Amino acid sequence: MVHTFPHIMIKEIFENPRAVRDTALGRVDSATGRVTLEGIHLHAEDFSKIRKIRIAASGTSRHAGIAGRYMIQELACVPVYVEHASEFEYGNPITGPDELTIVITQSGETADTRGAMHLAKSRGSKILAITNVVDSTIAREADAVIYTHAGAEISIASTKAFSAQLVALFLLGVYLGDLRGTLTSEQSRHWITELLAMPDKITHTLTRDTECSALAEKFYKSEDFLFIARGVHFPIALDGALKMKETSYIHAEGYPAGEIKHGPYALIDEKLPVVAIATRDPNDAAAVRRSERTLANCKEITETGGRVIVIATEGDRKVEEVAQDVIYVPEAPELLSPLVEIVPLQLLAYHIAVRRGVDVDRPRNLVKAVTTE
Ligand code: AGP
Repeated sequence: MVHTFPHIMIKEIFENPRAVRDTALGRVDSATGRVTLEGIHLHAEDFSKIRKIRIAASGTSRHAGIAGRYMIQELACVPVYVEHASEFEYGNPITGPDELTIVITQSGETADTRGAMHLAKSRGSKILAITNVVDSTIAREADAVIYTHAGAEISIASTKAFSAQLVALFLLGVYLGDLRGTLTSEQSRHWITELLAMPDKITHTLTRDTECSALAEKFYKSEDFLFIARGVHFPIALDGALKMKETSYIHAEGYPAGEIKHGPYALIDEKLPVVAIATRDPNDAAAVRRSERTLANCKEITETGGRVIVIATEGDRKVEEVAQDVIYVPEAPELLSPLVEIVPLQLLAYHIAVRRGVDVDRPRNLVKAVTTE
């Protein structure tokens, strides 16, 4: 059946599973756990020289970079730092041949990201670009490229390209983990098998569209939103807030859940919806602990009179004790769970924007690629 969509953004949200599948396929061998990245030519020896990875990117691409930091540090045990591309030059970046700079950019044309790349390169760092556009300026100027295969992304809000960036960073983590010997071949096989299961889980998450639309109906008149999460889920909170801002013109903030007591808690009242990401992989004790901590924050917010919407793992019914609204997503290993968590946040932003009458594919004052500083 051919599905017709009223806007490009929702069409692109529904293309998330394909973007994830296409970015992984052809690069992974589930029998051996090997990842092949055609655009990078680093050997164990080269990589052993690299002591640090620095990521520079803007907007949603930077949020992917923060998730990538958690992935690469966990899989390959290399320290990773993430910076706003627009701030890169002001920090006098101390970089050089022992550092790999990764620039992440959907368009491959973002001026701030390109500027960060030039500065890092001039200081001797090797540059790896993760981009969606073949032969874009940044792809041509970098030393190596990993292309995301999200297909052309037209709507100004980045959705499927973000998911593809998460996959590229995850693949890089497994690739480096294998090179550096931090992953056994059994562990690599496990991760690749889990990655290949994600497109179906994302497709399943898209069936929550009607629930997200109902939530939008409930909250579309809100003037502020707070998104909270911990660990690898935190950048998903950041991107949920960014999607809300740019498509709905609603002020929204993404915060580490543990930080809200250090200030934002003063804002909590019945007029501020709080979206909390509290998924859990029941096979991972540390992930369960993180989820429980976030749910404890939700309980406090509810007791203070706030309104909480939780993104939780299917089967985790305890969540309903601390939240007025819950959107369930399929169980996934924690490092891959951002791929399912982002979907309801994209859908919520989309449905709220439509109800507020925003031209959702072309929000005011924004362009798809910011080519000036
Ligand atoms: C995302 O929804 C935004 N439209 C924006 O933040 C974007 O991610 C940013 O401008 C970076 O663009 P790039 O990925 O093409 O470099």
